[in-house]
Amino acid sequence: MKVDVLLGLQWGDEGKGKIVDVLTPKYDIIGRFQGGPNAGHTLEFDGIKHVLHTIPSGIFHDGVINVVGNGVVIDPVILKKEIDALVEMGVDVNKKMFVSKKAHLILPTHRLIDAASEKAKGKEKIGSTLKGIGPTYMDKTGRNGIRVGDLFLSDFKERYDKLVTKHKQLLKFFDFEYNLEELEVDFYKGVEVLKSLTVINSEHYVNNAMNNGQTILAEGAQGTLLDVDFGSYPFVTSSNTTAAGTCTGLGIAPNKIGEVFGIFKAYCTRVGSGPFPTELNDEVGEELRKAGNEFGATTGRPRRCGWIDLPALKYAIMINGVTQLIMMKADVLDEFETIKVCTHYDVEGERIDYMPYDIVSTEVKPVYKDMQGWKTDLTQLSSIDEIPAELNTYVEYLEQELNVPITIVSVGPDRKQTLMRESVLV
Ligand code: GDP
Ligand code: IMO
Ligand code: MG
Repeated sequence: MKVDVLLGLQWGDEGKGKIVDVLTPKYDIIGRFQGGPNAGHTLEFDGIKHVLHTIPSGIFHDGVINVVGNGVVIDPVILKKEIDALVEMGVDVNKKMFVSKKAHLILPTHRLIDAASEKAKGKEKIGSTLKGIGPTYMDKTGRNGIRVGDLFLSDFKERYDKLVTKHKQLLKFFDFEYNLEELEVDFYKGVEVLKSLTVINSEHYVNNAMNNGQTILAEGAQGTLLDVDFGSYPFVTSSNTTAAGTCTGLGIAPNKIGEVFGIFKAYCTRVGSGPFPTELNDEVGEELRKAGNEFGATTGRPRRCGWIDLPALKYAIMINGVTQLIMMKADVLDEFETIKVCTHYDVEGERIDYMPYDIVSTEVKPVYKDMQGWKTDLTQLSSIDEIPAELNTYVEYLEQELNVPITIVSVGPDRKQTLMRESVLV
């Protein structure tokens, strides 16, 4: 069997959590491969709305194992809160979730360094989620990090103290006050919970499962345009959010990747700083934010909103080898008379259909094509055959431009508000 991947094609928050939950009954294992609690994946069903940060979005289904892979960074404090909330809802997390020994730990001082560094950057800040993601991946690649498996070593405390001493030195360079002792109380409570989980060699687990015919879906976090290599650097996250991240973050060989589901909103959003060519700083942007309830699932920050961006999507499809597209939040456009699609960029009078290298400092003006809105409430539809002609035209136009089939159209946050266009699994 091969591993299917579902990942975001824009700047995150495309609706990955919802669709992973919808697809979970087709899989035996759901695995996260990168990111950490900077992610906020929302699931809605039976009147319940739930946001997951570290835990894979298959956790609400029975008979499915959720794996937190080696590429993920874990904050024990946040993980404990997530587990507590799920246990209260009657979900037996311990039985349904395994954690990689090789996943790195976010320490309280990583969070402090993230906050201090963002403060020092002032106007040039990344707009990070302040969860300590950047500093933790820095320690990982700098070969100073602490991994989940280290919690079981007799010298864990010495390793922790050594790294924290280094972090304290670093924090001295910033004008930043903190009370570490207070943060450490919660950290050690979280560590105890983490140690009580099933901690495994996840690369062996997923490969054995594959060889035994089990089906696996890898769940991406963030989005392609936030990838540390291919996103709008430096306004990115610190991991590879793209399909290649599945290989390094779960131990899957490249030739074992099957379907790649690329998920995107029918429009576009971004939270945090950085370029966003189709951003609308006007009442239309405001209308999108309101209709789409575009406020961050992790930080509550208002999301920046704009029209769909085809050059950016084409780039994301290329980098990930997307085989199927999933279009989310079509219902958010229900009230719009006209819907705009960015087909090209105008850069100093030249029309281009790719993202320029220096997108951070280049003025990129979007060139739009107008499409007719459908002015219909999509949220009540239960079959793709019922969609209005204008939406069908929109979907077919995107498919033709992007050259990949759109197999799912989502028309509301609930599990049930999901319209299948074709058989999803080939
Ligand atoms: P993720 O990070 O990719 O999992 O996405 P988030 O959960 O951060 O953000 C997506 C938001 O849109 C959540 O509040 C979802 O409940 C909501 N959502 C998902 N799909 C749809 C949809 O088709 N229509 C509407 N209106 N909301 C949706
Ligand atoms: P999900 O998985 C949207 C953004 C932050 C910031 C940048 C760097 O829910 O789609 P970081 O904390 O990673 O150092 O922040 O990346 N960002 C996200 N934006 N959705 C996310 O995750 C994000 N995770 C990080 O806003 O601009
Ligand atoms: Mg999110």
